Amino acid sequence: MAKIIRIHEHGEPSVLRVETAEVAEPGPGEVKIRQEAVGVNFFDTMLRDGRVNGPLPMVLGSEGSGVVEAVGPGVADIHVGERVAYFASMGAYASERLIDASSLVALPQDISNEQAAAFLAKGLTAWMGLRALHDIAPGEVVLVAGASGNVGSILSRWAMALGATVIGVAGSRGKLDKVRAGAHHAFHSQDPEALTKIRAVAPEGVDVVFDFVGHGTAELTAAAVRSGGKIVAIGAASGQLQTDALEVTRRGIEVVSGGVQDHVNTATVGEASGQLFQAMRDGLFHDLRVSRYAFTDVSRAHADVAARRLTGLPVLRV
Ligand SMILES: NC(=O)c1ccc[n+]([C@@H]2O[C@H](COP(=O)([O-])OP(=O)(O)OC[C@H]3O[C@@H](n4cnc5c(N)ncnc54)[C@H](OP(=O)(O)O)[C@@H]3O)[C@@H](O)[C@H]2O)c1
Repeated sequence: MAKIIRIHEHGEPSVLRVETAEVAEPGPGEVKIRQEAVGVNFFDTMLRDGRVNGPLPMVLGSEGSGVVEAVGPGVADIHVGERVAYFASMGAYASERLIDASSLVALPQDISNEQAAAFLAKGLTAWMGLRALHDIAPGEVVLVAGASGNVGSILSRWAMALGATVIGVAGSRGKLDKVRAGAHHAFHSQDPEALTKIRAVAPEGVDVVFDFVGHGTAELTAAAVRSGGKIVAIGAASGQLQTDALEVTRRGIEVVSGGVQDHVNTATVGEASGQLFQAMRDGLFHDLRVSRYAFTDVSRAHADVAARRLTGLPVLRV
C-alpha cells in the first residue's frame, strides 16, 4: 500500500489527509516509482485552498523524485532501478505512484533525489523565464519581483551568472539578506525609496521585469520598467497583476507570460534540465537551502508556504 496525501474539500492546510491506496502495475507507457522526495510548490497551496479549482478528491503535488520499481509495456528508455524525477505531473504527494514515462527526467549521478525534488520545477520555471519567455543577454538590467521566493531566488542567481545586472525585490524584510546574496541590489517592496534607488541603477528604467508577485508590486514594476522594455509575468503570489493596458501600449512595453509545462516540453526538457543541472553543479545556487518536512507533516509545510515563513525550498521526505 502507498501512503498518499489527498484533499476531499478545499480549505486550510488541515484539509490535507494522509491516507493509503493500492498502486496498480504500470500499464502501456507507464512507470511505477517509489518516491523518495516530493517538491512542494506555491501552486499546490492554490489547489488546496480553492483559488484554483480541481476535481475532488485529489492527490496534490506535481513534482517528485525516486527510483523506478516497474515499467509498463512499450517503455524502452527507462529501466528498473533508475533514479528519475518529474516536475509537472499531478499526484506527486505519494510514497509510490504510476506516471507516464514521457514525464520523467533521468537523474545524473551527482544530483540527489532531494535536490531534484527541490529544484526541478522551480529551476525549470526560472529557465523558462530566462530562455523561453525572454532570452537574457549580458549587460541587461533586470528587476526580479519576488526575488526572496523559491523561483525568484533561483532566477536571480542564474541571471547574474548569465551576465545581467540584477535588482531583487523582497516582500519580507527578514529575507533581504537572501535577496542580497543573489542580486547586485536588494530592496524591500514597501521601501518608499525603492523606485528612486532603481532609477539610480537604471536611469531610463530596467530592461526586463521578472514578476512572481503580481498585484502587491504592480505599481513598482510598472514604474521600474523602461519604455520599450518587457514584463515577464510568471507568477502572482499576491494576486493577479493588473496592468494599465493603454499605458503599457503607449510606452511600448511588451508583457509576456506562460506556464512551465508549455515551455519545458518533450522538445526542450533535455536542454533545459541539462542547463539546470549544470548550473547546480557550478554552484550557482549553493546558498539556497532545502526546508525538509516529514511526508506526514505536509500541513505544516503548506502553512509555512502560505505564511511566507520559508527561506528554503520545501521538500517532503517520503
Ligand atoms: N508560470 C508557471 O509555470 C509557474 C511555475 C512556478 C511558479 N509559478 C508562480 O510563481 C509565483 C512564485 O512561486 P514561488 O514558488 O517562488 O513562491 P514563493 O516561494 O512563495 O515566493 C513568493 C514570492 O512573492 C513575494 N510576495 C508574496 N506576496 C507579496 C506581497 N504582497 N508583496 C510583495 N511580495 C510578495 C514573496 O516575498 P517574501 O517571501 O519575501 O514575503 C516571495 O518573494 C507563484 O504565484 C507561483 O504560482 C508559476
